[in-house]
Amino acid sequence: MTQPNPARFPARFTWGVATSSYQIEGAAHEDGRSPSIWDTFCATPGKVLNGENGDVACDHYHRLDRDLDLIASLGVSAYRFSVAWPRIVPDGRGATNRAGLDFYSRLVDGLLARGITPWPTLYHWDLPQVLQDRGGWPARDTAHAFGDYAEVVTAELGDRAKHWITINEPWCAAFLGYGNGVHAPGHTDLAGSFAASHHLLLAHGLGVQAVRANVPGAQVGITLNLAGTYPAGDNDADRAAAHRQDGFANRWYLDPVFGRGYPQDFVELLGATSPQAQELVLPGDLETIAAPTDFLGVNMYSRSVVEAAPGEGFLGLRQVHVAGSEYTGFGWEVAPQSLTDLMLRLQKDYNPAALYITENGATYPDTISNDGTVHDGARTRYFQQHIAAVGDALAGGAKMAGYFAWSLMDNFEWAEGYDKRFGIVHVDFETQARTLKQSGQWYRDFLVRAQEGQPA
Ligand code: FCB
Repeated sequence: MTQPNPARFPARFTWGVATSSYQIEGAAHEDGRSPSIWDTFCATPGKVLNGENGDVACDHYHRLDRDLDLIASLGVSAYRFSVAWPRIVPDGRGATNRAGLDFYSRLVDGLLARGITPWPTLYHWDLPQVLQDRGGWPARDTAHAFGDYAEVVTAELGDRAKHWITINEPWCAAFLGYGNGVHAPGHTDLAGSFAASHHLLLAHGLGVQAVRANVPGAQVGITLNLAGTYPAGDNDADRAAAHRQDGFANRWYLDPVFGRGYPQDFVELLGATSPQAQELVLPGDLETIAAPTDFLGVNMYSRSVVEAAPGEGFLGLRQVHVAGSEYTGFGWEVAPQSLTDLMLRLQKDYNPAALYITENGATYPDTISNDGTVHDGARTRYFQQHIAAVGDALAGGAKMAGYFAWSLMDNFEWAEGYDKRFGIVHVDFETQARTLKQSGQWYRDFLVRAQEGQPA
């Protein structure tokens, strides 16, 4: 079994845990928060498993101090969370809500008091419903509304929070939200989803501007969900399919953020559904999107292995199950080597100033044993293998600067409701009891050794 060697990581390496607002906060109708697209989606029959929603979730909004103590008990140096736009600007645009700002201000102060570096993400999918009613991400105005909201949040927290992520996983927000409809707002319109992708990237650029204006000494970047793509067979058709998948999932976002504009092969594949053909890419947009950043955040869970399948979907390919591979409870292949390969490729092709794994983790059906612990050996192994893979990437020359485990605690896993547990802390959603899992114990013990620079 692969065990990561803590001595391979520099003392200044960032070790953290991550969450997002809608997945943990609850208090959905309190202190002036307006509904987000996720509240609406959850209330739509058939969209979320068991009709569940984030009304209560982990009740983090009311348990802030205890949860901060929990984070501190893990020994992490950083905590990645997201700010709920509907708490800050309930009308989407215009007046700000003091109570919402106060909550995140307390959160940031509470982290700093415990010696933990705050890593806010400005957008992790909870778009104010009022903005969806005005067109959502397929409408350009939403990017400008985001810029205004980013201005408010960074002005409030920027004296204390120095590490900022603009947008979490624009691919998911655009494609799952507007393309295949699996996520809020549940639209199924390919052209709309590519319009959304452009406006999410534009929002990222405007977010970078807000951070630069308001946060002295800021570190800012975007978080992309990326997966290495591999051909199933050793043949040209599968290799071409893997290249298309790479264009769709990876290059479509990486290329413009790193100043190359959209990948031409994929613009051509999209034809009339491309943002270019829809005349949505206005002069100056690509420059805004390519604003220099201090790091690239990568959410990595698995890889994609694809084979050519003419006529299947707009990409003409299908994902392949790899015989002999291990899969998590989500059906995602455990592929730690692909993390190393991906990081080395990103460094070579895009040369980011620094690379952070901003999410990595696995879901398995957990149970609390009679001894009161969750013996999540498979998740523990997953973390061990992937942290070792980060060490390999670092040794190979990738500028790895940090790693955030997804997730601090079990939470509302979007369309899967509370069924899919990703936490290193178990949450009993009836009682809100938190129980450190074996994986959490392992991470905590590993961090003690990593921070002391000790060998395994
Ligand atoms: C990512 C999301 C995160 C969580 C994990 C499992 O795509 O950013 O909120 O749902 O997947």
